Amino acid sequence: MSAQRPSGPFREGDRVQLTGPKGRMHTVTLREDGELHTHHGVLRHRDLIGLPDGSVVANSSGNEYLALRPLLRDFVMSMPRGAAIVYPKDAAQILTQADIFPGATVVEAGVGSGALSLSLIRAIGPAGRLVSFERRDDFAEVASANVETFLGELPDTWSIVVGDLQEQLSIEFAAGTVDRVVLDMLAPWECIDAVAEALAPGGVVLCYIATATQLSRVAEYLRATELFTEPEASETMVRGWHVEGLAVRPDHRMVAHTGFLITARRLAPGAIPPDVKRRAAKKPSYGDEDVEQWTPGAVGDREITDKNLRKRVREAQRAAGGARLAASGDADEDAAGSADPSA
Ligand SMILES: C[S@@+](CC[C@H](N)C(=O)[O-])C[C@H]1O[C@@H](n2cnc3c(N)ncnc32)[C@H](O)[C@@H]1O
Repeated sequence: MSAQRPSGPFREGDRVQLTGPKGRMHTVTLREDGELHTHHGVLRHRDLIGLPDGSVVANSSGNEYLALRPLLRDFVMSMPRGAAIVYPKDAAQILTQADIFPGATVVEAGVGSGALSLSLIRAIGPAGRLVSFERRDDFAEVASANVETFLGELPDTWSIVVGDLQEQLSIEFAAGTVDRVVLDMLAPWECIDAVAEALAPGGVVLCYIATATQLSRVAEYLRATELFTEPEASETMVRGWHVEGLAVRPDHRMVAHTGFLITARRLAPGAIPPDVKRRAAKKPSYGDEDVEQWTPGAVGDREITDKNLRKRVREAQRAAGGARLAASGDADEDAAGSADPSA
């Protein structure tokens, strides 16, 4: 499948990440006659070819560079972007939450810059199939170029379909033949009906979304279809640590927010899970109108009964009375204290 060789001595054509003076980084593709020119001197590519990964070489001025093949996470953070990418911390979670396995048939939309595609291609292995749908052909071109750059060729396990997923999915896949679907787009709910049709029973849909309002909308859409299990949502925060001598502490800065993940599994045709039956038997705590109006029920606040509320009022008033008494006691003591000249 792929020509990428993540190990062994450097060869012509390899991409190499060079860390030079003051930690400045450069990425080069090795050529026999290639040179890296900086104001610190000239580094000849041929001095690197044949050396093991992780070697240090000096340029014409004696400045040293550490040479390493970029890891996938280094590559995606530095590759050209047409659209916002899925960060490595989220890509790692997506592979687990969506249960991407070797040999899986996976659908992804949109492809954007191809960052997530690279992780998916790796995870499905040589026996899998990834079809990435992208409505913009310019983004599809960026993604394709990025995948080819990182892997050294376009893998035969991957293809891009240019067009809207909701229109193209049923053309590319017969109903019930897709194992996993990953959506990273503004309005994933627009694609849920098509996804439900394409997914095999038990298959997983995962949406990566940036805002809480999108998260809410996609969750309610998934529920309303009655074709999926109860959706599960999460976010991933990775906090780096500074570990040096006795200075062992979290980093001062972190990437605090990228997006949320929400997953659900496709039910078998006609299946109604027992927990849904139980929920349906109870009076629902909110309706469609509430969701629009942000009522306490819609935002998940349990409404207090009048009786309970009266009890809380009495408790609060008792506590306030006690505080008042204590304050007046203090005041009396103060007054008594100030009247005592020996105090
Ligand atoms: C944030 S980007 C995806 C980034 C990508 N996951 C990555 O890691 O590089 C979202 C992409 O979805 C595409 N898109 C939005 N809605 C779509 C749809 N219904 N079908 C196909 N592509 C869609 C957009 O054109 C855009 O390129």
